[in-house]
Amino acid sequence: MTAVVRGTSVETRRGEAAAAAEPLLAALDLRLPGHALPAPLYTDPDLFDHELRLLWRRQWLFVGSVAEVPEPGDYLTVDLGTSSVLVLHDDDGQVRAFHNVCRHRGSRLVTEAHGSVGNIVCGYHRWTYGTDGRLLHAPQMPPETDLSCLGLRSVALHDLAGLLFVNLSAAPSDDLAQVHRVVAPYVAPHGLARTKVAAQVDLVEQANWKLVMENNRECYHCEGGHPELTQTFFPTWGLEADQIPPHLQPDHDRYLLAEADLQRACESRSLPHACVEDLDRPVGFWIRREPLDGAGESFSLDGNRLVGRLLGDFTEHRMGRLSLHLQPNAWAHLMADHAVTFSVVPLAVDRTLVRTTWLVPADAVPGVDYDVDTLTEVWRRTNEQDAAFVAAAQAGVTDPAYLPGPYSQAERHVDAFVRWYDARVRAEAGR
Ligand code: FES
Ligand SMILES: [Fe+2]
Repeated sequence: MTAVVRGTSVETRRGEAAAAAEPLLAALDLRLPGHALPAPLYTDPDLFDHELRLLWRRQWLFVGSVAEVPEPGDYLTVDLGTSSVLVLHDDDGQVRAFHNVCRHRGSRLVTEAHGSVGNIVCGYHRWTYGTDGRLLHAPQMPPETDLSCLGLRSVALHDLAGLLFVNLSAAPSDDLAQVHRVVAPYVAPHGLARTKVAAQVDLVEQANWKLVMENNRECYHCEGGHPELTQTFFPTWGLEADQIPPHLQPDHDRYLLAEADLQRACESRSLPHACVEDLDRPVGFWIRREPLDGAGESFSLDGNRLVGRLLGDFTEHRMGRLSLHLQPNAWAHLMADHAVTFSVVPLAVDRTLVRTTWLVPADAVPGVDYDVDTLTEVWRRTNEQDAAFVAAAQAGVTDPAYLPGPYSQAERHVDAFVRWYDARVRAEAGR
């Protein structure tokens, strides 16, 4: 007998997944291990559509933090392909997610990226939903209409110590719950529920989403490529001790001293700091508390603090950065004074939205405890530099002359990302 999930048989869904996977598998079969991906995986619009269906509609996706929806009625929306998800703080204090589709004749309910509502009122015929998704009012409908069957369709949502994830699948994997148990003790001390958004920048990068992610997973390009970032971000990131080039040895020596200091600071406060790497699982992740160069406090040009107050449980500023990588679409840096989160959303085969959000303590006062321009300077510039790098990469992989080249030792996490992508496509296809 075939199980039925929301009107679609599991058998049918498996068949659709297999069909979506075939062209992707054919392209992936041309991949050389340890090398960049074949061009069509960055450039072919049909393969991109298959990815949306096979991966993006099935993975846990990072969409923002609780600080973006702090009060009842606050919402954010995330558009992915033809889908739109409404993430909403309900009147009882719970954050929920719904398909942004009216249950009457399907109108989009909310069109803004952020906002606040009392109830959700469809602009077409005024059907009105509560913040819990229930249909409260449907004008002029026959009295026998059962409103209780016409609530908004929910989307799975997971709150990981204040980081919000959604999953569009009707049967989401429980992998994020397992990852939560490892990652939450690292993130929780930063008290994200007691932060506010100091700034948010949406940057549309002219590149395939995988080029954006691959670029984030290495610092091979940092030296010379990110003059502001490398004031505090050690350019030896990703290299083992025996792989440090001679000219970076002084940076590595400073790193070792700063790391020893940071370890002592973490251990005296019972803060987890050790590296945990599990990049191959469905919610592949890497987490580690790492030192910052200079004063070691924050992502400023000299390492000094950017916010005069402290996040969560912290009692001092010089706590480096907690770095988190998540497959497929996120990374974050959490310092003692502020946090920066990054989400990646594909818009087209060659266009990707990178949303960067700066979170500061809820009671920090702009102009007194921090200056928004100074707070955001390093990552605004770094993002713009990265956008130029990936746009150039997109142009190059679109050139018929492109041949995938080999990864360096510093690109181990790029390789891990590509292997994750390959493995998820095969797993979703049942291979
Ligand atoms: S489509 Fe929303 S009320 Fe008619
Ligand atoms: Fe970069």
